[in-house]
Amino acid sequence: MSKEIKLLLECGVRAPSSHNSQPWLFRVDEKYIEIYADPKRRLSEADRDGRMLFVSLGCLIANLKIAADFLGLSHSLAYYTSGTSDLAARMNFFGEKKKANGDYFRATSERRSNRNQYKNRPIPEDVIRALKDLNRDEGLRIDFVTSYKTRAQIADISSRAMGRIMSRSPFRRELAHWLRTNITRKKDGMPGSGHGMSLLVSCIAPHILRHVDVSKVEAKKERKRIMNFPAVVVISSRGNHRQQWLKVGELLEMILLAAQSKSIDSAIRVASIEDQIAREELRQALGLRNFEPQMLFGLGYAEKTAPHSPRRRIEDYILPAR
Ligand SMILES: Cc1cc2nc3c(=O)[nH]c(=O)nc-3n(C[C@H](O)[C@H](O)[C@H](O)COP(=O)(O)O)c2cc1C
Repeated sequence: MSKEIKLLLECGVRAPSSHNSQPWLFRVDEKYIEIYADPKRRLSEADRDGRMLFVSLGCLIANLKIAADFLGLSHSLAYYTSGTSDLAARMNFFGEKKKANGDYFRATSERRSNRNQYKNRPIPEDVIRALKDLNRDEGLRIDFVTSYKTRAQIADISSRAMGRIMSRSPFRRELAHWLRTNITRKKDGMPGSGHGMSLLVSCIAPHILRHVDVSKVEAKKERKRIMNFPAVVVISSRGNHRQQWLKVGELLEMILLAAQSKSIDSAIRVASIEDQIAREELRQALGLRNFEPQMLFGLGYAEKTAPHSPRRRIEDYILPAR
């Protein structure tokens, strides 16, 4: 593998992914990177239809594009999302072009989910406008929700969704499987520190999740978390298939990185997207009509910085050459 391809992949895999499952595989050549879903890393309980997996791949694609622009590599992207194959997209490289500035590239290594308390400090209007302008796709829609009333509606929807999801023991067992202690050596999954847990709590949390129905407590916490964000952002799409999910992921990551470059923190919360009843309620609350809500996250200024979560080695993601 060339140095450049390795650098591209290193930037790519800094992308967020559901439960930090890093559900991607690559087949590479000097002239292309093929991006595959990793079937072994599907979250069969949290992500029954595969939406979150493809949104995660979309985030990765955004990072690959940013790295290629930064290195001055001309590129094109082909999506392969109509069938059931694991191949999701292929990025082709052809020659050189002017290098982009390094703002987004730097933000890919600075960004991380920040699940701490957020300050009561609004995001400036001009920043919100600039973030909205990142969407150039008529098939996608971004709603920035800052009013108390609508945030409270979304918080209630998310809270009920969290209650329903957390009451399912297979969901809790799967989540427990991806939770890690704060001193883990594993290179995937979520260390408890990223969720504000002490070492002791990070050791016992997976056992509690497996055996205790924590749905009421988690529902309450979810309401508080959503209300705590000064801005709640919902990305919706006109269709509801793999290609739209990839594009939602690309837009999501671009917004997170643009926010990061302005020192704005972010935290993704998808209970209301994973739950079908809540998705419909969200559509009504935001007047989305023929748009389907696909992603929800909070933006703001967190009280504390958050730790980075681990990633596997690039070699672990590489498929053998054909
Ligand atoms: C599609 C998707 C869904 C996610 N859903 C949630 C969520 O509901 N709650 C949460 O705390 N984090 C969520 N995350 C954040 C991931 O847990 C996080 O990206 C991952 O653990 C890697 O950590 P990092 O973002 O700090 O790099 C989600 C991320 C993605 C891409």
